Amino acid sequence: MTILVTGGAGFIGSNFVLDWLAGSDEPVVNIDKLTYAGNLENLASLQGDGRHIFVKADIGDYAVVLDLLKKDKIRAVVNFAAESHVDRSIHGPEDFIQTNILGSFRLLEAVRCYWNGLDEPDKQAFRLLHVSTDEVYGSLEKTDPQFSETHQYRPNSPYSASKAASDHLVRAYHHTYGLPVLTTNCSNNYGPYHFPEKLIPLCIQNALMGKALPIYGDGQQIRDWLYVKDHCSAIRRVLAAGQVGEVYNVGGWNEKANLEVVHTLCNMLDELKPRADGKSYAEQITYVTDRPGHDRRYAIDATKLQLELGWKPAETFDTGIRKTVQWYLEHQSWVNNVLSGDYQSWLEKNYAGREA
Ligand code: NAD
Ligand code: TYD
Repeated sequence: MTILVTGGAGFIGSNFVLDWLAGSDEPVVNIDKLTYAGNLENLASLQGDGRHIFVKADIGDYAVVLDLLKKDKIRAVVNFAAESHVDRSIHGPEDFIQTNILGSFRLLEAVRCYWNGLDEPDKQAFRLLHVSTDEVYGSLEKTDPQFSETHQYRPNSPYSASKAASDHLVRAYHHTYGLPVLTTNCSNNYGPYHFPEKLIPLCIQNALMGKALPIYGDGQQIRDWLYVKDHCSAIRRVLAAGQVGEVYNVGGWNEKANLEVVHTLCNMLDELKPRADGKSYAEQITYVTDRPGHDRRYAIDATKLQLELGWKPAETFDTGIRKTVQWYLEHQSWVNNVLSGDYQSWLEKNYAGREA
């Protein structure tokens, strides 16, 4: 038995592969295109481990995916591969349409063809788990109830619209062809190997480099934060016991305003790596022009996952954020390798002229 993971060199995918192989001997075939966000260094500890088979490929390459499914007799696919950064989707939506919509469609087609050729017991046992986001549901007001699985889809960014499209395709492939799919919609993740374009790793790194900590708008936008290893455990649980065709919301019950998150990071860094001048890292907080169409609040109701499958996050925000800050302090060489020329031009594109 073997599973196929897509996007397994990215932030969540690589955490998932590492955790999977720490807890199971079932091999993983890992397909990743290695975009700017894919990093094989995340998987360096698996070098020489025959249980991890890495293939540099695009999920949109039907022939390659179908071949791998057949060759390795895959029993489940977990689809992480995506373009994932909202700000990049605002600057250039094309890659998001290509991978998140067309790529997911071609992946579904390859899986459908493979699945149709399986014998009945293998067909019954097969699963495709599609990893998605709470952002497909749109934005909440402060007092609105959290997103449940039946909340109306109302995506607001090119990123969330492209993820919504892929969710709909996955749903349709179950409804129309009977493909045994599962979908998870998760809140904002944080933890090791998080690419430093996203709020938490960007602020940790900028703080250490003496740079500004850029707060979009008033910093009162709310996100629900989940430690990445808790997301991975939720995916394993849904894959093992989720009901075919169902959607499961995954969240940390940790709603925080962005400004609060950044102050927490500053306090943690003040404790673990104080600034040479004795001042707080909070002095580096800088308000900058808001993100266009910025969603005000995301909040996940993960009751279904808890009641039906018994899943709960293991980390609180305080324990998870401490582990995360410690990880970045201990892995500065990982960060320095990521901060390549490409990354510098992204910073220039996104932040130049943004000072409020
Ligand atoms: P990421 O950007 O860190 O990683 C994405 C990975 O996919 C990279 O390794 C990249 O090389 C690969 N990839 C991109 N296009 C590809 C293609 N066409 N073919 C093959 N591989 C390709 O993203 P992430 O934060 O790890 O997110 C993983 C998944 O989880 C995404 O589907 C995202 O929408 C979803 N998600 C993320 C979060 C979050 O907070 N990061 C929250 C909820 C859901
Ligand atoms: P991000 O990590 O990009 O995740 P998402 O947009 O998917 O929620 O951003 C998290 C929040 O932080 C979001 O409200 C935007 C905000 N943000 C900033 O205020 N400054 C920044 O430099 C970045 C990258 C994000």
